[in-house]
Amino acid sequence: MPTATCARVGSRITASSGGLPVDDASWFAPSPDRSDWELPRDIRDRDVFGGSDCGWVEQMRPFIRHFSQPRQTVLDPFCGFATTLLAAGIEGRRGIGFEIDPQRAALARERLQRHGVDADIRTGPLSHEATEVRADLCLTSVPYFGCSWNGEAVQGQLYLERDYAGFLSGLRAVFHAVRRSLADDGFCIAMAENIVVGGRRFQLAWDVARILDSLYVAHEERVLCYPRSVSPLPHAATSTNRSHEYALVYQKRRETIDLQATLEILRAIEGAGFDFRLHGSFAAWLEAGMPAHGRRPADADLLLPPRQDRLDALLRWLVARGFELNLWGEPVKPPVDLPTWQAHHYVRADRRGRDGSLVRLDLGCASVDAF
Ligand SMILES: C[S@@+](CC[C@H](N)C(=O)[O-])C[C@H]1O[C@@H](n2cnc3c(N)ncnc32)[C@H](O)[C@@H]1O
Repeated sequence: MPTATCARVGSRITASSGGLPVDDASWFAPSPDRSDWELPRDIRDRDVFGGSDCGWVEQMRPFIRHFSQPRQTVLDPFCGFATTLLAAGIEGRRGIGFEIDPQRAALARERLQRHGVDADIRTGPLSHEATEVRADLCLTSVPYFGCSWNGEAVQGQLYLERDYAGFLSGLRAVFHAVRRSLADDGFCIAMAENIVVGGRRFQLAWDVARILDSLYVAHEERVLCYPRSVSPLPHAATSTNRSHEYALVYQKRRETIDLQATLEILRAIEGAGFDFRLHGSFAAWLEAGMPAHGRRPADADLLLPPRQDRLDALLRWLVARGFELNLWGEPVKPPVDLPTWQAHHYVRADRRGRDGSLVRLDLGCASVDAF
């Protein structure tokens, strides 16, 4: 987005102070924080990055107001200096944050204490073991890849990941654990930016979206614009001042699939000679005589015989009929070898129609004696 546009938006937004309403504009420019909400100088001075990766309270407030209710709990799994938790406190919400760096976690607690905000900041990553953590909204800025972090080398610190694949799988693990903590229908909103590291572009925002796509239901994105200085570019140069980021808005809720189209594809699979058993919610829905009301299945769970040749053939058959395959959100093409399949429990096959409808098949492998 051109910076000139951001500057214009900035002046419009600055006029409405006190936290923005969320309207249906697809972008907005948060107003800079009041000086007493900024990260204090003495705290910045004690941070290894000088607080340069700290966000704005005004970046978070509109999302907290719009996607949670007073007294509900806001979770930030990458809490940094607790900007989100401060915004939550200002908006009358409870806050819980996870920060892997012990020094940062201590600085975050100190910051909140100065504001009289009582939030639960835990040192370490959010993991599946934290079963008691419950939240109504997850709101976070993801760590950036390729930072030269010279703080403590804590295991799991994503700023220290040596390669992009490891970084993404670390992000995936955290957002997976968020899912467990989040209330049904709760929103998960991640702020992320595509980045350039070593002159190479990383589609970090798109990759975060892909991870979230595999765990939550996508709603919308908002483009957040920040005022930054601009310079003219030499002819055909493409770099920008990267003065925008995306707020990716997702929700933890069940997908809705096209039940009739799912039934038709199951009949076609059977007709093509593939052996399978149906189980789970779709099977229950069929058995109950397809009631018009009640809990609609979010997918069809199939159990397949563990024969590599037949599995490969089925995947190819599905791909030829417009299905996209993924393993925990990572796109795959046939063949998928049996151990990988079993380690992931299922291969997901999605077909999205031009009317926006979805057929989703979760293809699990049975044990040898199940057929
Ligand atoms: C972009 S900063 C968040 C800044 C925060 N939004 C704020 O304004 O204060 C990302 C933070 O994630 C932390 N982090 C990195 N890996 C983590 C992990 N696996 N679990 C929890 N925190 C992690 C980093 O130490 C860093 O403080």
